[in-house]
Amino acid sequence: MTQDELKQAVARAALAHVVEGEIVGVGTGSTANFFIAELAALGQRIRGAVASSEATRQRLEEHGISVVDLNHVDRLPVYVDGADEIDHALQMIKGGGGALTREKIVAAVAAKFVCIADQSKLVPVLGRFPLPVEVIPMALNHVSRQLARLGGEPRLREGCITDNGNLIVDLHGLEIADAVDLERRINQIVGVVTNGLFACRPADICLLATPGGVKTLVAA
Ligand code: 5RP
Repeated sequence: MTQDELKQAVARAALAHVVEGEIVGVGTGSTANFFIAELAALGQRIRGAVASSEATRQRLEEHGISVVDLNHVDRLPVYVDGADEIDHALQMIKGGGGALTREKIVAAVAAKFVCIADQSKLVPVLGRFPLPVEVIPMALNHVSRQLARLGGEPRLREGCITDNGNLIVDLHGLEIADAVDLERRINQIVGVVTNGLFACRPADICLLATPGGVKTLVAA
């Protein structure tokens, strides 16, 4: 199976978690894009979707799915999104597409976070994928110095401006032993909007695409 076939299979499997008659939260990235295509087939059976990025909002609308402002939603049963890395505790690194802050906001509101990933994303220890950090532009040098003190190598993502008008610094070379602690410590640096660790609010389940079928993982 190709990686795209794996992504499509896991996107289709996620439909089983969508609650009919409700709003669904939709993530960002190539796996989420496969999910949007699957979601479109449900038509009026969902009330609409909350988008985790401008790119996702646009794609949802192109597929005829009505997009709802998160502030107009009083409950969000499910959020479906991909990940750059996920471990056996279902903690993740996200933000490869630069949408980490809005993704984290939608995930915080959702009752259930369903991570959809192909098997290449499952890792024993988070950190091989550079950890994205969204930074207020005037704080770039300050934040980069503070991040370097944590042991990684901060690199500005060239040419990337987030949907919120900010910069992304990718922190390379980490081996993350305590993801909850690191998520909190980075978020306390003044000038950081948020970082791409989803450890304080991990996924509730992970649908993992393998050549042998889609497996359901729950936290170890
Ligand atoms: C975007 C994300 C994505 O979920 C993550 O990058 C995975 O993307 P893909 O499904 O394309 O591998 O966090 O900010």
